Amino acid sequence: MKNKLITRRRLLRTSFSGSLLFLAGCAKSATTTMPGMNHGNMNHGNMGQRSSAATPMAMTAHPGRALNPAFTPDVDIALSAIQTDIVLLPGKATQVWKYDGQVIKGEASIITQLPNSSIGPIIRLKKGQKVRVRFTNKLPDKNAHSVVHWHGLHLPEDMDGHPRIAIAPDSTYTYEFEVKDRAGTYWFHPHPHGETARQVFRGLAGLLIVSDAEEQALGLPSGEFDVPLVIQDRTFNADNQLQYLGTGAGMMGSMMAQMMGFLGDKILVNGRINAELAVATRAYRLRLLNGSNSRIYKLAWSDGTPLIVIGTDGGLLDKAAQRNYVTLSPGERVELFADFSKRNVGDSLKLVSMVFEGAENVPVPAAYQSQSSGMMPMAMNEALPMGHAFDVMTVKVARDDAQRGSYTLPSAFSPVPRLKIGDAINAARPRTFEIDHVMMNWRINGKQWEGDIAAPEEQVKLNTTEVWEFVNKLNLKEMMDPMGMAHPIHIHGVQFQVIERKLAVPELQSGYDTVRAGFMDEGLKDTFLLMPSERVKVLLHFSDFTGKFVYHCHNLEHEDQGLMRNYQVQ
Ligand code: C2O
Ligand code: CU
Ligand code: CU
Repeated sequence: MKNKLITRRRLLRTSFSGSLLFLAGCAKSATTTMPGMNHGNMNHGNMGQRSSAATPMAMTAHPGRALNPAFTPDVDIALSAIQTDIVLLPGKATQVWKYDGQVIKGEASIITQLPNSSIGPIIRLKKGQKVRVRFTNKLPDKNAHSVVHWHGLHLPEDMDGHPRIAIAPDSTYTYEFEVKDRAGTYWFHPHPHGETARQVFRGLAGLLIVSDAEEQALGLPSGEFDVPLVIQDRTFNADNQLQYLGTGAGMMGSMMAQMMGFLGDKILVNGRINAELAVATRAYRLRLLNGSNSRIYKLAWSDGTPLIVIGTDGGLLDKAAQRNYVTLSPGERVELFADFSKRNVGDSLKLVSMVFEGAENVPVPAAYQSQSSGMMPMAMNEALPMGHAFDVMTVKVARDDAQRGSYTLPSAFSPVPRLKIGDAINAARPRTFEIDHVMMNWRINGKQWEGDIAAPEEQVKLNTTEVWEFVNKLNLKEMMDPMGMAHPIHIHGVQFQVIERKLAVPELQSGYDTVRAGFMDEGLKDTFLLMPSERVKVLLHFSDFTGKFVYHCHNLEHEDQGLMRNYQVQ
């Protein structure tokens, strides 16, 4: 398997004959408009768009939003984005950005901070609660405009965290909304255009766990037996500091990472390296989030025990599903049931990511491949390439539990509220979104991010159901994209159903077959993986709120580079 993968990569590389020309082209663009190369001044928004007339983007910060005295919150929280130091590696502390939260109104247990981690806080809410979050940007970099997006929630447009409402340091934006969503694992992260990848990379991400009466009645493992696990990859420099683009991987390496997506060489769970979870001999609920910038994981237990999946992005499944592995792309969540009752104290088990192929078929020019070429520093994607195998986390069975073996998972959970294809106004003519890569730009239907603009083909009607078809189009003549890249597609404001997948190019089938059994299409989704040459149909319904909502690739480098647009509900 591994050999085959290497051979395939080699093949793609050697078949790429125009690498010198390619490098010349890159160097030229790098000096002009390459995104991500210009650290500390990345908030100009219009990165990577050279062809069309310059669209003015969020250069000016949003002034913020004061609280509405007429809104009576059940839960009131102060949340700030701060810079701090955490001890992560032996020696020097690592400077991170993180969210810090305090409960102003409500039970103290609403907020949990993870010790010694940039991840968090974990905010626990109940369906139906009215929530106020007073977000203050306390980042030290005056260019670091930020905005909080509540990934997966169904919210009014001015509460959803649109890039246009990014605020400057020392400003406050007060979110006020009602939790209308099913019980599930949602999350929050920054969303300023052109800056999201860097801000998330530095540590800004938290979890939002929603519960409801229906879910509570099921009696799933709770409290300390309900464990959130945020999986990310990072790179550190010799000084223990986070190393993103343009800070040592070399200019060309940075540029490639900006185009393809950042891949770190260390795997972190809940912000910690070499993570260990000490468990008792009993049943657990594990909530996994892929909070990485671009890495896709193929998750499995190291001893071959199948994964028992109980939930996806939009909450619990109808009933448990069994998988040998789960494919989790950036932004996606999966909930697992794990029963350690049959294990003995002292046993250990690993959560691993398995080998896969086909997500990244971009030919990396030979000059990136080794330092011995003398041309370029080591490429950014080579330390731990996409699709290689590694350990994610060790589970150590640490103690016996009195409840050992006594728990039985309910045979059915809550019925997933499903839409019917017959209710779609365009079942026969899906609205199509074609993703391609032309002239070093990722595009949707030939367009990139244009700030607040939603095109005529991006207008939908309130209270309608539609079929959308996303097409990952190969562009064989394009130097970056001969066999394409996978894109985790995320649509704000809705939980949808994946109703059909088709692969257009038969040559890509073998790679596709290494990930497809891990897609959790039976649950509600807000993010799904679109593999190279794949066409995926989703069924969605627009309710409650009019306005503009973004949809984008959740490979954060792709998103920042412009693979994001608005759709407008009218
Ligand atoms: Cu989690 Cu628009 O993103
Ligand atoms: Cu989102
Ligand atoms: Cu993408």
